[in-house]
Amino acid sequence: MKIEVYLDTQTEPYTTFEPPESFRLDTTVLDDGEHTIRFKAIDTDGTIGLREVKFSVHNGPNISVHGLRDDDQLFGEVSILANAYSSKIGDIFEPMRIETPNPIPTWAWVLVLVVFSWSMWYLGTEYREHQANLSAPAASASVAAKTTSADSPAATGASWQALGKQVYENNCASCHQANGSGLAGLFPPLVANPSVLADDASEHLSTILNGAHGKIIQGISYPAPMPPFGSQLSDEEIAAVANHERTSWGNGAKTVTADEVTVLRK
Ligand code: HEC
Repeated sequence: MKIEVYLDTQTEPYTTFEPPESFRLDTTVLDDGEHTIRFKAIDTDGTIGLREVKFSVHNGPNISVHGLRDDDQLFGEVSILANAYSSKIGDIFEPMRIETPNPIPTWAWVLVLVVFSWSMWYLGTEYREHQANLSAPAASASVAAKTTSADSPAATGASWQALGKQVYENNCASCHQANGSGLAGLFPPLVANPSVLADDASEHLSTILNGAHGKIIQGISYPAPMPPFGSQLSDEEIAAVANHERTSWGNGAKTVTADEVTVLRK
């Protein structure tokens, strides 16, 4: 019995031996790629057995390609990254050499973009809220500054008008009526009332501060007293309600300030 070994299409045997025996196949003399090794066993009586084994050889450097795969459809210009790395028997493993610079995948870019744009949006809304918080008190402060600095009646009016109307409706209208006409014989009218129209507002203001009783008002005396409001209303509220009376229902008297009320309180 003997075995003949053939490589690929060679007709001369690569080696011949009596089985069982091992032999060395030197692949470095072979091209990289697919190969076939054929074993032919010849028995003593001449009968022949055949066995084929396919194998592939890879002694050359490895090649990696990025940006191009089998059956890809290409158009225009395409950037393709190719790297080759080799390792010889006995080489020390060096990770640097086999690490192909891998392009960052698209999904990673998308993720980075999403996170970035979300954080910008978040910062934007936070900042806007912060700005709104900052500017709100500043805006009202500047309005207040304008009203105190300007002397025109319209400008000064803006600060007390709403307050004066509200204080009047809450505290005075039940007796003096919303239109200031009062109730005949019970509560004096404030429309065209000399005390309300007087240039010197001190009587008007002290009546609101301290109340009044038994006055003869335009020839009429009233049985019920006017209650004092000094303890319930602030100087600002008293000035505002006085100004409301001094400028409403056709009244056109000089307006007063909270400071005048402060002085009268003492
Ligand atoms: C409970 C009813 C009542 C209420 C509420 C009331 N008043 Fe009077 N008011 C009177 C009466 C009564 C008189 C007359 C007092 C008198 O006889 O001296 C009067 C008089 C006055 C006078 C003086 C008029 C004058 O000619 O001297 C003024 C000003 C006045 N009230 C303003 C107010 C204001 C401002 C309020 C609200 C903050 C108010 N009153 C709330 C009943 C009331």
